Amino acid sequence: MLEQLETLHTGALSELEAVKDSGALHEWESKYLGGKGGVTLLLRGIGQLPKEQRADFGKRANEVRDLLTEAYIGREKLVHEHELARDLEEGQIDVTLPGRERSVGGLHPSTQTLRELYAIWADMGFQVYRSRDVEDDETNFSMLNIPPHHPARDMWDTFYTTTPGVILRTHTSPGQIRSMHELGGNGTQPIRVILPGMCYRYEHITTRSEMQFHQLEGVAIGRNIRMTDLKGTVTAFARRMFGANAAVRFRASYFPFTEPSMEIDVECFLCGGQGCKVCKYAGWLEIAGAGMMHPTVLRNGGYDPSQWSGFAFGMGPERMAMLKHGINDIRYFWGNDLRFLEQF
Ligand code: DAH
Repeated sequence: MLEQLETLHTGALSELEAVKDSGALHEWESKYLGGKGGVTLLLRGIGQLPKEQRADFGKRANEVRDLLTEAYIGREKLVHEHELARDLEEGQIDVTLPGRERSVGGLHPSTQTLRELYAIWADMGFQVYRSRDVEDDETNFSMLNIPPHHPARDMWDTFYTTTPGVILRTHTSPGQIRSMHELGGNGTQPIRVILPGMCYRYEHITTRSEMQFHQLEGVAIGRNIRMTDLKGTVTAFARRMFGANAAVRFRASYFPFTEPSMEIDVECFLCGGQGCKVCKYAGWLEIAGAGMMHPTVLRNGGYDPSQWSGFAFGMGPERMAMLKHGINDIRYFWGNDLRFLEQF
């Protein structure tokens, strides 16, 4: 066994000389020094020797193990140095090569416009209130003073679901009802919110109408809110959005949920009111519908209309983006054409 040990010793050393990489080094280690390695196995067989030889053999075997370990450590250092040098050589980076450009994503033009709107309205004390996309008929229409079968329902072509009474909201106005109930404290608290969101209409899709689009609704309720507040607030908004000199015009109109109702135009900021293609030579661009909240709507939101009043408005962010950037086809917004989207 002693002879076996010495053979193993010299064999192991000469094998180690040939080891060139970490893989082989690892194999060598388990072959000789590991738990099932040669030295360990011989040591384990020590019981087969006559008693008087055991001490000498054990001493020598431990010596051999220490010598091999030492040799292993020396070799390991060499192999690592070698490998590092090779990696540096092979992995050299040519810093003079041109870089690969990374494409960076961007915000959708509707998102950009919405954020611009949030910032302006936030400055004027309006908080964002999020209402649902899937509405019930009652809140989308009846609570807004549009009873079933009322001809005004024709103003909104509606997507119905297979569940009776459940629809996709056709405008953000039902959020008026929900925000009054949630924030109004049973008609005891003033409210100042904007309600942005996607709206859906069963429309014939053309350059000017889509079946989905954003709206941004605004609601202000207080004890003494008047038409002059609406006009002043909207004018201040238009100047922030379209330029300090933007002129604003209010035209009488009709909505079932406001009385009086109006449509709001800004002077065309492209031609300065002279008339151009974008404003269709009118000199004015429509940006919103608005009005004083109808007493019935206030009552449906829990307010006593003899004590409280409010104004509301609804504007179309895509329309505004179209006007601002001269986009002549609303279908671009949801067409997912990167050539369009990357321009913003
Ligand atoms: N909901 C209206 C629409 O979709 C827009 C609107 C008009 C909202 C007048 C209002 C408003 O809050 O007062 O056409």
